[in-house]
Amino acid sequence: MSLFTQKELCVPPEHQVPFNAKGSLVQLRSAEVALLVDCRGSGLPVILHWGADPGVLDDAELTALALVARPAVVPNALDEPHPVAVLPEHSGGWMGLPGLQGHRSGRDWSTQFTVDGVECVTVGEGGGALRVTASDSAAALELRLDLELTPSGLVRVEATVHNCGTDDYTLDGLVLALPLPDTATELLELTGRWGRERSPQRRPFGVSTHVRDSRRGRTGSDSTLLLVAGEAGFGFRSGQVWGVHVGWSGNHRTYAERLPSGEAVIGGGELLLSGEIRLGPGESYSTPVVHAVHGTGLDDLSHRFASYLRARPGHPSGPRPVIMNTWEAVYFDQNLERLAELAELGAKIGAELFVLDDGWFLGRRDDTRGLGDWFVDPDVWPQGLHLVVERVRALGMRFGLWVEPEMVNPDSDLARAHPDWILATGDRRPPLVRGQLVLDLTRPEAFEYLLERLDALVTEYHLDYLKWDHNRDLVDAGASVGGGAAVHAQTLAVYALLDTLRQRHPGLEIESCSSGGARVDLGVLARTDRVWASDCIDALERQAIQRWTGLLLPPELIGSHVGAPRSHTTGRRHDLSFRAGTALFGHFGIEWDLSAADQTELADLAEWVAFYRRHRDWLHRGRVVRVDSPDPATLVHGIVADDGHRALFAVVQLASSVTVAASRIRLPGLSPEARFTVRPATPGGTPATTALRPVPWLATGVTLSGRALAEIGLQAPPLQPEQLLLLDVQQEPDA
Ligand code: GLA
Repeated sequence: MSLFTQKELCVPPEHQVPFNAKGSLVQLRSAEVALLVDCRGSGLPVILHWGADPGVLDDAELTALALVARPAVVPNALDEPHPVAVLPEHSGGWMGLPGLQGHRSGRDWSTQFTVDGVECVTVGEGGGALRVTASDSAAALELRLDLELTPSGLVRVEATVHNCGTDDYTLDGLVLALPLPDTATELLELTGRWGRERSPQRRPFGVSTHVRDSRRGRTGSDSTLLLVAGEAGFGFRSGQVWGVHVGWSGNHRTYAERLPSGEAVIGGGELLLSGEIRLGPGESYSTPVVHAVHGTGLDDLSHRFASYLRARPGHPSGPRPVIMNTWEAVYFDQNLERLAELAELGAKIGAELFVLDDGWFLGRRDDTRGLGDWFVDPDVWPQGLHLVVERVRALGMRFGLWVEPEMVNPDSDLARAHPDWILATGDRRPPLVRGQLVLDLTRPEAFEYLLERLDALVTEYHLDYLKWDHNRDLVDAGASVGGGAAVHAQTLAVYALLDTLRQRHPGLEIESCSSGGARVDLGVLARTDRVWASDCIDALERQAIQRWTGLLLPPELIGSHVGAPRSHTTGRRHDLSFRAGTALFGHFGIEWDLSAADQTELADLAEWVAFYRRHRDWLHRGRVVRVDSPDPATLVHGIVADDGHRALFAVVQLASSVTVAASRIRLPGLSPEARFTVRPATPGGTPATTALRPVPWLATGVTLSGRALAEIGLQAPPLQPEQLLLLDVQQEPDA
């Protein structure tokens, strides 16, 4: 039986004909990326090259490349140096972070795996996969390494370690890494906090270890999403870059390391807490998938992620519905009349899915109580939710509900009945965050309770959608029985809960929210349909948050709402065109008390909704383009349709520019030879000041080649700060 039988590969099944690659040099190629793997030695395979595709190489060239990759013998270092393997091993002389850390009561702390087998499938220019099995008989461990180059040029790596000894093996960490070239001298990563997720940070990458650890028990609002190493000065459109993302919603580590020898790697894995994984005889541990991506410019990385995600069978299909979310519209002030009015206004302007946010369940009149009691509160909803659900459906909209299953308020019937269901270390209660604690989902009764409650709600109301929230970091998260560190098991239990619910309700869509954007990763996205990028819907902040969330995710997976004219989180006021023109580049929604909007605002909003609905189909299949603007006060970004025939760009004025008259808007990403007509798009009317100070081409539109638009550009109209201009770009038929 093939080693691949159990494994889901991106490589199509008809191409999965494995061959024995032990003792070979393997070349995997796809989408202009190549991965050359040396499986000739007895030790773990070495990646000779990960980066730009050198084209098909014959055996002689592969052997020559392997030869030139051999490190020099230098004074006072190993007599026989080896290039580092995907799982770096100390026993081979790697002085950096070891891939596997663990021991058997102090023994077997350093491994030396010997390869038993290498199975491989290659699919010409469509990528391929390798499965390596190895063992260390002295340490009584077996290892399986899976490496795949997907059709979009993304590399997926994962490992499983198996204890074949007779006593426990304590696993302290298992990270996987890919080599970086000496030209990668700069690092880019993201950080953030509640309400301001995804702020970029750059630094030189010299001889050092740069580690981004996350111990929040969830992905974290400061999670880097991608750690990128690249050529000095790389941008969205230029410079070779290599990035890594760990697809995991618990504690995780991402790192880049360069040793004095010059060898450098970038990698990551799960971050294990002390004693968290003890493998009994016969037990195994599997890493999350580490995604590694190479390209020219950051846009290339994002495009590879987008193509990879869009090719998944479970990628949300069908037009992404316009969401009407009640949170910033009513907060906890829920009643039928108010919500029915909101639903009516929403339906009139074209909303398609109504999401009832926090505040509908037992005792939840504010954010200090009720979490855990997932029963509709009869004081607020005497007939259950049926009346509001019926009203919403009668208006032609679908219905969704907010839940926060993993959490519990001490002031809840659940916490009073089951104080022992809480993640805690011994008798010590973890500190409260937002007045809440975390339920131990590894405890079967707690898991079953949540599954029963969620299942019952989805069934009773035929829910189309759940907004699944998770509003705190995990602190002192010990298992309710025994008190051992439980983040790993909790993360798997949450995945199992999501998976079971989805199996039972295949049509149900789920949004991953976590105090805004604190659970954004490809682990949770394997079982959810979009993320809520931030609790801050101030369009100015959102320009940055969405730009950087977009490093990992395509627009259709990033929830983006039009809020009230005055932002609830920052107090800023923005025109509707700025708010809606920002939401347009994500999965569009509305989170605004429309009963406070006047007739003009409602009519303008309806135009924006219609515009989104008209264009979402191609926007959500297109290629995101972000321009490296020389002016930090201006952002230009857009989406080019997958057939290249059209594009939509936004010119965003963040602040006043130092210069005005000579600034240019460059529109890259279009086919260089084709000709395109550029015109302003003005759903909901033109912002008054843009109308007052147009540049001549805006009034008439202009037709130029893709090359001229990318390289010469258009005179920028003098926008006021916090204004946005949309440009509709259409290809002209060949002359
Ligand atoms: C979190 C979410 C918000 C909202 C509130 C409700 O903060 O991010 O969107 O759902 O919870 O309490």
